[in-house]
Amino acid sequence: MPDLLHTLHVDLASSAEDRSYPIDIGRGLIGDAATCQRLIAGRGVVLVTDDQVGPLYSGALKTALGDCAQLTEVVLPAGEHHKDMGAIQHILDAALADRHERRSVFIALGGGVVGDMTGFAAACFLRGADFIQVPTTLLAQVDSSVGGKTGVNHPMGKNLIGAFHQPLQVLIDLDTLSSLPEREFTAGLAEVIKYGLIRDAEFFGWLINNVEALKAREPDALALAIARSCAIKAAVVAADERESGVRAHLNFGHTFGHAIERIQGYGDWLHGEAVAAGMVMATRLSALQGALNPEVVEQLIGFNKAVGLPVSPPANVTPEALLAAMASDKKVAAGKVRYILLTQLGEAVVTESVTEGDIAGVIDA
Ligand SMILES: NC(=O)c1ccc[n+]([C@@H]2O[C@H](COP(=O)([O-])OP(=O)(O)OC[C@H]3O[C@@H](n4cnc5c(N)ncnc54)[C@H](O)[C@@H]3O)[C@@H](O)[C@H]2O)c1
Repeated sequence: MPDLLHTLHVDLASSAEDRSYPIDIGRGLIGDAATCQRLIAGRGVVLVTDDQVGPLYSGALKTALGDCAQLTEVVLPAGEHHKDMGAIQHILDAALADRHERRSVFIALGGGVVGDMTGFAAACFLRGADFIQVPTTLLAQVDSSVGGKTGVNHPMGKNLIGAFHQPLQVLIDLDTLSSLPEREFTAGLAEVIKYGLIRDAEFFGWLINNVEALKAREPDALALAIARSCAIKAAVVAADERESGVRAHLNFGHTFGHAIERIQGYGDWLHGEAVAAGMVMATRLSALQGALNPEVVEQLIGFNKAVGLPVSPPANVTPEALLAAMASDKKVAAGKVRYILLTQLGEAVVTESVTEGDIAGVIDA
């Protein structure tokens, strides 16, 4: 029996066209025929997954979809290295070869890589088809599946080609996390604690107090952590869909994190690991600037250590290398690096007033 635990909404009703959508969170949802058939309402389906997730979950999903008008399955090679225009071409070729129409629904079954690519392919297909996110990593469940950012990498950098295209629905089946490799799961926790830091002091405290239950992937703790994270992301996206204001707060720790990834060469550290070290630096910088209680820095370090996330960048990340890498980040505005800092626990601001000395101080600390 499926167990639907939470339904949240991304409220985009104020825009010209109402593109609001639900996020369903529960257990046993992927294999539930009623849930899946309600989603597609008899339309054709282009199911996109990767070669690690597909063998685990696409059979159950396809069975639950039943006799949809037409089903095309595209299985991509797993991993960030395959997040490119070649994969988009592959998805579109398959959809066109099977003569799907614009009313067909694309389904992304996998982590953030599959989600970003499926959404982008759907945005391009016949000038825009619907798509549904079925995220299977913790990172994708709390972050990438919500908010409509889709796209692929380019040799010049990550996520440089893409489109805003909101999903029709996000379906989060907590059971999929049971097969997620430990390191991937832990990396996702970095994005979870980020929401507490930038928006919700009480949630931050809850995470600190429930670290063992989270590590053990206890279903009740996971359900609460994912629901609260999605609620915060949904509220931020509803307030600023296209990142002209508060949505930038979601990049807390990411300016440093992206720079670490760039210096390391993508793939050595996972994104969440780099963000975890980046958040410690950003939190420390916030305390250094006098706004944040330094106790929060210690609590974050304690959390990271308890779950197995890094608390500082690797040794080769010198202040000089970090500054150079941050200056080439795509989010640099008019030549100025913008930092997301905390004025207090649960409140973020964007600032450019950070000196090179400040950066050196938070690396060496
Ligand atoms: N669109 C956004 O707003 C947004 C936000 C954050 C990150 N992202 C993107 O997300 C991507 C990273 O996503 P990710 O961390 O989910 O990585 P991923 O999609 O590469 O998944 C990580 C690995 O876990 C495997 N996997 C996925 N689910 C599994 C499961 N349930 N059981 C076993 N194995 C499983 C995958 O096959 C893959 O090998 C990056 O490309 C990043 O740019 C997008």
